[in-house]
Amino acid sequence: MLDHIIKQTTEFLENMPKSKRKKKGQFFTSVETARFMAEMFELNKCHDHVSILDPGSGTGILSVAFIERILSAYPECVISLTCYETDPDVLPVLKSNLAYTKSQYPNQINYCIAEEDYILSQGNDFDGNLLASENPKKYDYIIANPPYLRVMRDHPSALAMPKVVHGAPNLYFLFAAMSLFNLEKNAEMVYIIPRSWTSGAYFKAFREYLLTEGKIEQIHLFVSRDKVFNAEEVLQETMIIKIRRTECKPKEVLITSSNSCNDFADITKLRAPYDSVVSGEDLYVYLPTSEEEIEVIKKINTYHSTLPEEGLKMKTGIVVDFRQWDELRKEPGDHILPLFYSQHIRNGRVNHQPSGKEYDWIIDEKPGLIQKNKNYVFIKRFTAKEERRRLQCGVYSPSDFKEYKFIGTQNKINFVDRVDGSEMDAQTTYGVYALLNSTLFDMYYRILNGSTQVNSTEINNIPVPPAYMIKKIGEQILVTDDLSTDNCDRIISEVAYA
Ligand SMILES: C[S@@+](CC[C@H](N)C(=O)[O-])C[C@H]1O[C@@H](n2cnc3c(N)ncnc32)[C@H](O)[C@@H]1O
Repeated sequence: MLDHIIKQTTEFLENMPKSKRKKKGQFFTSVETARFMAEMFELNKCHDHVSILDPGSGTGILSVAFIERILSAYPECVISLTCYETDPDVLPVLKSNLAYTKSQYPNQINYCIAEEDYILSQGNDFDGNLLASENPKKYDYIIANPPYLRVMRDHPSALAMPKVVHGAPNLYFLFAAMSLFNLEKNAEMVYIIPRSWTSGAYFKAFREYLLTEGKIEQIHLFVSRDKVFNAEEVLQETMIIKIRRTECKPKEVLITSSNSCNDFADITKLRAPYDSVVSGEDLYVYLPTSEEEIEVIKKINTYHSTLPEEGLKMKTGIVVDFRQWDELRKEPGDHILPLFYSQHIRNGRVNHQPSGKEYDWIIDEKPGLIQKNKNYVFIKRFTAKEERRRLQCGVYSPSDFKEYKFIGTQNKINFVDRVDGSEMDAQTTYGVYALLNSTLFDMYYRILNGSTQVNSTEINNIPVPPAYMIKKIGEQILVTDDLSTDNCDRIISEVAYA
C-alpha cells in the first residue's frame, strides 16, 4: 500500500512548487520515517477495533504506514481512521490514496476525511479554552506530522487555546496539545515536532500542559540537521516523540537516535531516567544521547538553586547598535566609552582591540545605554554550529579600563552581574567564569538547547552550587592564574562536583 502512496506523493510534489507548500506549513514525511513512527506504537489495543487520528494528513502517508503495520500484526483488526486536511490541492491525492487503501482491505478499514481546520473544528469556544471543551472526540492512536506555521497571537486557533500559548504561537504545538486532549486515557500519540519546544519561555505553557497531562515515553533524534523530511530541506531541527496520556511518570524514557531519515538501521538506543529528561520548574526537556550525557545531567542536578537564587544573574547586553547610530563613535575621545562586542571575548578575557566593526565606541550621554565599569563575566550569545563550545565566556576586569566609570555592551553578548546591580567580588566573578567555561556546563547547555544561541533565561535556570562555593572556586582559579577549561574542570570538580 505504501508504495502506491509514495508514487502519488512524488507526483504531487513534482507539480506543486515548494514555495506554495511552505506557506501552508506543508512538508511531507519520508516513507522510512513514516514506517519508523508506525513501529513506535504499542499495538496492545489492536485485537479488535481501533480508532486512529491523523491531523494534517497531507497525502496520508503516516496513516497508511500505521495501518499497514497494524494489519500485518492483527489482520482481523477493524480500523476507523479520521484524517484532517485543509489544503484543496492535496485533498484529491489524500482521497485517492485512502480509497486505494480501503480497496485493499474493504472490511477492515473505515475512514473519514474531515476537510476542515483540525483545531477549530474541535469546538465552538474560540475565545475560551478548547482544551476544556466537553465531550471531545477521543482516539486510541494519533499519528502526526503537523503544519509548521507561525500564526498571529490573535489567530482563532491561538485564541482558542490560551492555556498553551505564551508569545508567538506556532500551529505545530497547538496541534500537539489538541491531539493530547483528543487521546483516550492511557493511549499513545507519535508526533514529529521541531526541537524548539524543549526549552525556552515561549513554550513553557505548552510544556506544562503536555508533560502534566501526558508523559514522554520515547524520543527519537536525528543526529544530523534537516534530514527528517529528506528532500524537503526544512530549516528546523526535528524530533519524533511518543507521548502517553497519563499522569503516571514512567521510570525511563527511551531515547533513540539515527544519522539520517533513510537509514534507521544505524540506530542507537539509550534509556534515560525520566527525571533526567524532564526536569526543573520550567519542565525543560533534555536530550541526552549517551550515558556520559546522562551523568552530566545528574551531576548538575545535584544542586537545586539557580544563579538568581544565589544573587547573580545573566543579563543581555544593552546596546542594539543598528538602532543607535547617533550614539556610536569610531574613535575614542571626550565623553566617549568603550563599546564591547562578542569579538572582544577572547581566551577567557575581555579586551578592547579593534573588533572589526565600524563603531567600537559609544558616547556617555544616555544613561539607559551604558552600565557601570565593574566586574562582569561576558558570554557570547551567538556561536557558529561548527564551533567546539556553545558557552564562550571571558572575565571582564574593570581595572583594564580604569579611565572609564561606565562602559557599553552590545546586545549580542550576555553578561553576569549581581541581581541588585551591586558589584560582584573578583572571586565570585572568576567562580562564575569557571562554571560557564567548564566542560560540564557546556555539555549540559548543549543537551538542553539544540540551537546555537545562548539564552540568558535558560542559563538563569541551570542549577548551580551555592554562592560560597562559587566564590571558593573563583579563589582557586585566581591562585592558579589559569583560565583554561582543563583548569576550570579540575577546580569545579574538586570544590563542587566531587
Ligand atoms: C507538515 S504537513 C504533513 C503532511 C503529512 N502528515 C506527512 O507527514 O507527510 C502538514 C499538513 O497539514 C495541513 N494543514 C495545515 N493547516 C491545517 C489545519 N489547520 N487543519 C488541518 N490540516 C492542516 C497542511 O495542508 C499539510 O498537508
